[in-house]
This record gives sequence, structure tokens and C-alpha cells, in this order.
Amino acid sequence: MRQFVLAAASIAALTFVGQPFVGPASAQAPIVIKFSHVVASNTPKGLAADKFKELAEKYTNGKVKVEVYPNSQLYKDKEELEALQLGAVQMLAPSNSKFGPIGVKEFEVFDLPYILPDLKTLRKVTDGPLGTKLLKLLEPKGMTGLAYWDNGFKQMSANKKLVAPADYKGLKFRIQSSKVLEAQFRSLGSVPQVMAFSEVYQALQTGVVDGQENTWSNIYTQKMHEVQKYITNTNHGYIGYVVVVNKKFWDGLPADIREQCEKAMKEATAYGNGQSQKENDDALAEIKKTGKSEIVTLTPEQDAAMRKAMEPVYKDVANRVGQPLIDEFLKETRGTTN
Ligand code: LMR
Repeated sequence: MRQFVLAAASIAALTFVGQPFVGPASAQAPIVIKFSHVVASNTPKGLAADKFKELAEKYTNGKVKVEVYPNSQLYKDKEELEALQLGAVQMLAPSNSKFGPIGVKEFEVFDLPYILPDLKTLRKVTDGPLGTKLLKLLEPKGMTGLAYWDNGFKQMSANKKLVAPADYKGLKFRIQSSKVLEAQFRSLGSVPQVMAFSEVYQALQTGVVDGQENTWSNIYTQKMHEVQKYITNTNHGYIGYVVVVNKKFWDGLPADIREQCEKAMKEATAYGNGQSQKENDDALAEIKKTGKSEIVTLTPEQDAAMRKAMEPVYKDVANRVGQPLIDEFLKETRGTTN
């Protein structure tokens, strides 16, 4: 009995520090991968996470069990990354904007306004040497970056009609924890306020903030359109994710299991990224159907004015994100630097 208790305690300890317990084949319990995320299941990230679960369990013949926890059930934004570093969860897919607080500010380059003309151009970055280089920055933080997942382009919402840069002046906007996003709203004369994703709906409803920026799928699944009179189709920025695992846990997996999980990740990534655009298009159609928010479309002149107003952000954040990195990114996306 005593031996059993000791054995159980050491399994618990091994699991706690992020190392999978690998015992004799016959007695083996599945290796559990807890995958925490903050969005709804019917979003690009939610669907890709569920696909990874399905494929990883299939390819490992049940030797791996993936437990997906959507909707900030386990952790909110920043806590999520800390939990991964501690080994309390094994896998996450935080947005690029959320790596700053743990000291990897380079991912904020994805937050620069209008840096990506479309999702196809994004692939040049994420699937190329720059994407690989960025993932390497996560290793000293105890994480391994496995993939880039898409959401899509952000829209601006408020209870006031947002057409010209002047309309943003003095309004409070919720932002993710990114200094680039802070600079973006300051360039418009707004007051940015960092807030966890799970708290946005209530903050909009009670007037703690006046507006926010997010993708159609996040706006729809969080019902933000029910508490925002106007949503302007700005496509001014991008939200995407880095799938990260606890490095100790991942390196400690038996090689064959890790390979099967990598295969599952590759396919889940192709699946998710293949339909993210559709998810956002469908969400927009659903929002329109409710009639609760007016969707505002900008003329080319109004769009140009927004771009011009936000252009100084590139200079404002050059020291933080790194001018060489911004240049490298722009070379990939625009074929030229600023
Ligand atoms: C947000 O906080 O607005 C987004 O990063 C949420 C998400 O994961 O899409």
C-alpha cells in the first residue's frame, strides 16, 4: 500500500513538472494533453483545436488524450501562458499579441496596422524563415512553438459610428496586452485599455469601455454585436495564433508519440487555416441577420485616411519590436520596407 502511494505520488510529481509518465505498456494510462483556449468552440481556433484532438487521439491509438478547454474555462489571457510555463496545461494557442507580457515582444509585429494585405501574404511570413526564427524565441521561455493558426482581420466597433480618424478621439477601447495595439489607439487619440478577452462583453455592456477591435468570428461568438451599435469593416489588423506546448513535456514524449502528434498538428493546421476565412464570413452574415449592429463600410478615401492616421505607429514601436524585424516583415509582405 505504502509503495502504491509513493508510486502514485511520483507519477503526480512527474506529471506536474510537465513530464509525461511513461510506464510499462500494459499498465499505461493515456498521456494527457490539456489544451486551454479563450474563444468559443465554433471559431477558427476552436475548430482547429478540436481537429487536433481528433487526429492526435486517432494517430496515437488513444495513447494520447487531448482535453480541450474552450471559453477561458481554465485560464484567462495572461494566466494561460503562465500555466503553460508551469506545466499545469500542456498546449495553448494564444494570439500573437499576448506574448509581450512573458517577454517575447517580437510577436507584436503582427499587430502593426495594415501590415498584411491578405492571408496569402501572411503565409510568406509564417511558412518562411522569419516564421521559424520567431518560433525559436519561445524556447528560452520554456515553450516550443508548433504552428501558426489563423483567425482573420479585425474590425472596429463602438456605440458611435466610426468613419474618420477623428471619430475615435477620446473613446476608450479594449485592447489585448500589446504595446503595438496601445500605440495604434493612441495614434487615433483614443484611450486603450488592456483587458482579458472573457471580460470584453460585460465591459462593453456596462460602458467600462466604449469600443473594441476583433474579428467577425470573435465578435459574433462573444455576442459583442448585441452591445455595440456600429461595427466598421476596417480590416485594419490581424489576429492569429501561435500553438505552443510546454517544452519539457514535449521533449519528454516518446519519439513515436511526438511524431504522431506533430502529424496531427500539421493536418489540424491545414484544416483550420483552410476555413478561417469562411468562419469569419459566416459570422459577418449572422451578425447582419440579427440587425443589432449597423455594419459600416468605408469608402477608399476614408480607408486611406485611417491608414494615414495609423502610419506613425510603425515609428512609435520601432524600438520595442525592433526596426530590423519590422523591415524583414515588410520585405516579405510588401516587397519593400517603409
Ligand atoms: C482577444 O483577446 O481579443 C483574442 O486574442 C482572443 C482570441 O484568442 O482570439
